[in-house]
Amino acid sequence: MALSLSPHASKHAAISTALPSSYSCTLIFVIFLCMLGLYTLNHTHTRTPVRSTENALRFQEIFLASSTNYTISSYLRALTVHPHLAGTEPAIQTTEYVQTHFRDLGLETHTEEFEALLSYPAHASLSLHFRDGTWKKLSLTEAGHVGKVVVPYHAYSPSGSAFAKAVFVNYGGEEDYRKLEALGVEVTGCVVIARRGEISRGTVVEKAAEKGAVAVLLYADGDTLGGVERGTVMKGLGDPLTPGWAGVEGGEKLGSEDGEVKKRFPKIPSMPISAENAETLLRSLEGARVPYEWRSDALRSRVSRVGPGPTLVNFTYQEEKKMVTIRNIFTVIRGWEEPDRYVLLGNHRDAWTYGAVDPNSGTAALLDIARRYSLMIRLGWTPRRTIILCSWDAEEFGMVGSTEWVEQNLVNLGSKAVAYLNVDCAVQGTGFFARATPQLDNVLVEVAKKIKDPDTEGMTVYQNWAATNTGINIQRLSGVDSDYAPFLQHVGVPSVDMYYGKDYPAYHTAFDSYDWMINYGDPFFQRHVAVSGMWGLLALRLADDSILPFNYLSYAAQLHEYTNVLNRFLDGNVSLLPITTSIHELASAAKGVEEAAKKLREQETKDDLELKRRSLNDRLMLTERSFIDATGLQGKQWFKHLVYGPSNDYQSKLDFFPSIANAFSDAARLPREEAKSAIQHEIWRVARAVRRAASALKGELT
Ligand SMILES: *[C@@H]1O[C@H](CO)[C@@H](O)[C@H](O)[C@H]1NC(C)=O
Ligand SMILES: *[C@@H]1O[C@H](CO)[C@@H](O)[C@H](O)[C@H]1NC(C)=O
Ligand SMILES: *[C@@H]1O[C@H](CO)[C@@H](O)[C@H](O)[C@H]1NC(C)=O
Repeated sequence: MALSLSPHASKHAAISTALPSSYSCTLIFVIFLCMLGLYTLNHTHTRTPVRSTENALRFQEIFLASSTNYTISSYLRALTVHPHLAGTEPAIQTTEYVQTHFRDLGLETHTEEFEALLSYPAHASLSLHFRDGTWKKLSLTEAGHVGKVVVPYHAYSPSGSAFAKAVFVNYGGEEDYRKLEALGVEVTGCVVIARRGEISRGTVVEKAAEKGAVAVLLYADGDTLGGVERGTVMKGLGDPLTPGWAGVEGGEKLGSEDGEVKKRFPKIPSMPISAENAETLLRSLEGARVPYEWRSDALRSRVSRVGPGPTLVNFTYQEEKKMVTIRNIFTVIRGWEEPDRYVLLGNHRDAWTYGAVDPNSGTAALLDIARRYSLMIRLGWTPRRTIILCSWDAEEFGMVGSTEWVEQNLVNLGSKAVAYLNVDCAVQGTGFFARATPQLDNVLVEVAKKIKDPDTEGMTVYQNWAATNTGINIQRLSGVDSDYAPFLQHVGVPSVDMYYGKDYPAYHTAFDSYDWMINYGDPFFQRHVAVSGMWGLLALRLADDSILPFNYLSYAAQLHEYTNVLNRFLDGNVSLLPITTSIHELASAAKGVEEAAKKLREQETKDDLELKRRSLNDRLMLTERSFIDATGLQGKQWFKHLVYGPSNDYQSKLDFFPSIANAFSDAARLPREEAKSAIQHEIWRVARAVRRAASALKGELT
């Protein structure tokens, strides 16, 4: 085997090519690697790594062989000893644990601080007053956890109180209110009870306020443990006092009475309640029967009539807003050939409670990737491009840490970030899930073929994933539910989000603890191992491949599929031709790039090879930025991506082209011709973005 490592490292090459591959040997092998690594560390003074595909592959093998579940489980144990809500005292210990871990591995580590306005509960009470004159005070805490974790609350709910009839509104979406209206049910002046569904908490509260409700109580059907789901109800991302710019110490901050700030917060108070409390309340309602369409197993047991009343709710909530210091931690592994190209891996660190799933299953995986990378560095590896591991703060309040940092680094990220790889709740249960921008689909699948399946002996993640009833079904990133949102939706950085399992009952409750993880989530930590393998190997491909493994034919195919879906909505009223024409251009540019990439990948050496590769890679990297539009989405201008982003109307079920989706949902309120031209204008805007992408990929001026 031809090797092209540094002279020192190549001495060991013969030994490490004979890797023991069976799992039982891994431990011995890792100890061996560590010793070898220490040796290399002491004997490597000048490293000039020479790139070759074989060399990169060899380090990928080392990465794969160095996985261990016991390291990950010990990290998770340490991270989840205390609850560590952002801006609180115990969060500092978690921050220090992560910093120390990175530093002890010898990695270049630094912390970036921001000041942000976060929201905490000062006081809350809730009682029910029944028709017969009796009343009941409801417990708002979780049994067994009183005083240990923050009481369940909605961050940024305003203070307020209400004494009013209760009314049930299902998920609290527009369609649900239409049903109630048809039944003659009035919600004005009432306390609205809603169950958690697809609609964000903030939107549920906003809609209830629009309908004249005075307060909102939210519960989760999936709650089987007696927990209560905390969450934020703030609109938009990042620190509310610095919308669109970084909240640095001494920098500009809006006043809390500023209109821009106030519109981020709901107008009426809200609170999460347990499913048990919800049931007590809902069972006491009279009035109209629950609409047929709402009925489900979860509902049948709890509610048969929607009210309003006769039960009265006495609700009080007092908020405390505080300016706090938040901390993002970064570890940088500098690239050798292209130090100014960044592959970013990010996970948030702050948690509502203990955070064993959300988010520290991801943190434990990130810490293990750091361990494995540092081992590779000691064996002589230097990535081609720079890899940055990011640990975000205050995600739970609205992606605050990542958003402030992205806003601070807008230009450098816009010109140099290759991809952002996010993992939040790494392990929630069984089954692999991924969401990505489409040019990353292929490499994601290739990586899944290299990772052992955690639940089926002898299978790969890919094989088990392909065997599910949906097959390899990579979702997209229009959601605004984790730290990829600022990277993709504000800057246009190609992004991925991955996890095992979904919809776990401990979500945002006091039960999201290490115990839950070892009892239910991942008793043997093998799913954690699989996520860290997928995540770390994907980063290695993006950092070390000489030509970026981006496939824009997938992107063009995906866009084409979207136009087919749109077509069904449009019934020929407006023309999609501008978009389909642009997609043809993108597809043809993508074909051209595939051929150019093949040549440059195979070519061995030539004076201008590196320059040519760099130029092609830049085209691949910057194509995603073309979907960014300076004016952004109407009414949500911070969101600038015209393919992926939040739309106002979840009911249209369009989770792409958000500006077009918004024009659709506004159409009902406008005169026909006006609606038509608004939709047509948004179609043109998307068409121009796709044409920009084709042109960026071709890399030539007109
Ligand atoms: C509602 O609850 C508050 C706080 O517990 C209490 O002070 C108030 O008297 C209650 N109102 C009614 C009408 O019971
Ligand atoms: C690691 O995995 C092995 C094999 O599944 C299992 O026996 C062991 O208990 C796991 N260790 C931890 C710490 O979970
Ligand atoms: C398209 O036209 C039909 C009638 O020709 C109308 O019912 C429908 O609402 C229109 N759709 C849009 C999106 O304008």
